[in-house]
Amino acid sequence: MNEQLTVTQTLSAKAAPALPDTQTVTDVTHWTDRLFSFRVTRPKSLRFRSGEFVMIGLTGDNGRPLLRAYSIASPAWDDELEFYSIKVPDGPLTSRLQHIRAGDGIILRPKPVGTLVHDALLPGRRLYFFSTGTGFAPFASLLRDPETYEKYEQVIITHTCREVAELEYGRRLIAALHGDPLIGEMVAGRLKYYPTTTREDSATTGRITDLITCGRLFDDLGLPPLDPETDRAMVCGSLAFNNDIRAILEGAGLCEGANSEPAQFVVEKAFVGDGV
Ligand code: FAD
Ligand code: A2P
Repeated sequence: MNEQLTVTQTLSAKAAPALPDTQTVTDVTHWTDRLFSFRVTRPKSLRFRSGEFVMIGLTGDNGRPLLRAYSIASPAWDDELEFYSIKVPDGPLTSRLQHIRAGDGIILRPKPVGTLVHDALLPGRRLYFFSTGTGFAPFASLLRDPETYEKYEQVIITHTCREVAELEYGRRLIAALHGDPLIGEMVAGRLKYYPTTTREDSATTGRITDLITCGRLFDDLGLPPLDPETDRAMVCGSLAFNNDIRAILEGAGLCEGANSEPAQFVVEKAFVGDGV
């Protein structure tokens, strides 16, 4: 990781503007020139299920809210809310959001929704989280939720990025889980982390779709092939990625579910568009 880009700011005295739905930024960490995470105060009334997303944003130049969907990366029990964000150079929101500092205000609409929730899956023994890029965010929430380990014997998180530095947010989060007093014992021996890169060499190079298809994921982790009786999955990445994983899961006999009709896997887009 480029240390110059890893700037953690602490809460400053600057007060947030008192607009409706405004929350105060408490911490910002820049991971790469394309990625950052930040924490904000949590509205007292906000209840959400780990894995859901909300609309957040800033006031636009025209004085109206400029909002985008963001997965909540913190678990449902946390006092604050955490988000993990892309920086799109010319993106209407993130070209400005990337400059937020502790003490600034952001708009947060407290209406959480989403399909990447435990309620949308039938009971199973093993839960796979398949993510690319910022698609890791909803799983950053679910990985820190004890319910995940109460419901499943084994949890597997795959995260595929172009370069090694883009894995750092997830790598640190998972390392911290193992030492966590609340959840450390629950994850011991049951959580498997499988990071891969596609445009820079690393311990595991390649698209996760190819690594599943050739069987290497299962060989590396000592797991049996996907089985609709025991395995459940949540998927979050680009449209193309989601479609490719959906085809693999359906090919293995798993059916897609929803809040209204729980089944064996669920999918959500990490963003709309072709990528940057
Ligand atoms: P936009 O005009 O929104 O996007 C411009 C282009 O940038 C898009 O067409 C796309 O090609 C690319 N792009 C946008 N977002 C991403 C991304 N995350 N990764 C790679 N390329 C992207 N974004 C996050 O950073 N973190 C999240 O947790 C997150 N959760 C989302 C959940 C849902 C359900 C959806 C639909 C989107 C989510 N997004 C998330 C994307 C987010 O809503 C915005 O698109 C993003 O913040 C960029 O906003 P923008 O106004 O700067 O650019
Ligand atoms: P690749 O480098 O081979 O395109 P992005 O930054 O474009 O959102 O991509 C994030 C990661 O997701 C990259 O490693 C990219 O691999 C991978 N990826 C993109 N599309 C797919 C797909 N259809 N199937 C599997 N992996 C994908």
